[in-house]
Amino acid sequence: MSTRINVTVNGTKYDHRIEPRLLLVQYLRDVLRLTGTHVGCDTTGCGACTIHVNGKATKSCTLLAVQADGYEIMTIEGLSQNGELHPLQEAFNECHGLQCGFCTPGMIMAALNLLQYNPQPTEEEIRVALEGNLCRCTGYHNIIKSVQYAAQKMKKEVAV
Ligand code: FES
Ligand code: FES
Repeated sequence: MSTRINVTVNGTKYDHRIEPRLLLVQYLRDVLRLTGTHVGCDTTGCGACTIHVNGKATKSCTLLAVQADGYEIMTIEGLSQNGELHPLQEAFNECHGLQCGFCTPGMIMAALNLLQYNPQPTEEEIRVALEGNLCRCTGYHNIIKSVQYAAQKMKKEVAV
């Protein structure tokens, strides 16, 4: 048995028939081939699969794809515009906020959610916002610096 879903992902509309048991992260990776969204645990623990669903950071292994029917989704692939890195992508590069990079798409999507609601967060607020995202490489300090760098850059862009 398959079920029909309509979703908008990174501004493009999709209409597919899928298995009702398919997780949203599997739909993104295996059907749409948007493999920037990673699977670290499959059980809501690591945050590697974080995307935005209707504008809010969501772990895409926690939803069935059919539950996203009619929703707007943004993945890491939707972040850069006109070939320019998003300030958060630039920041993780500049501040060495990644090593292996496995956690990075989820970190960036979670950080973007924070900056959308709180453009100038304190260090503690950043740490709390990212507590659902695990990194096995960096020790987190440079991830915090990256989010602070992006917040400053986005503030300047708004001021221009
Ligand atoms: S793969 Fe979704 S939280 Fe780990
Ligand atoms: S950079 Fe390797 S898990 Fe975070």
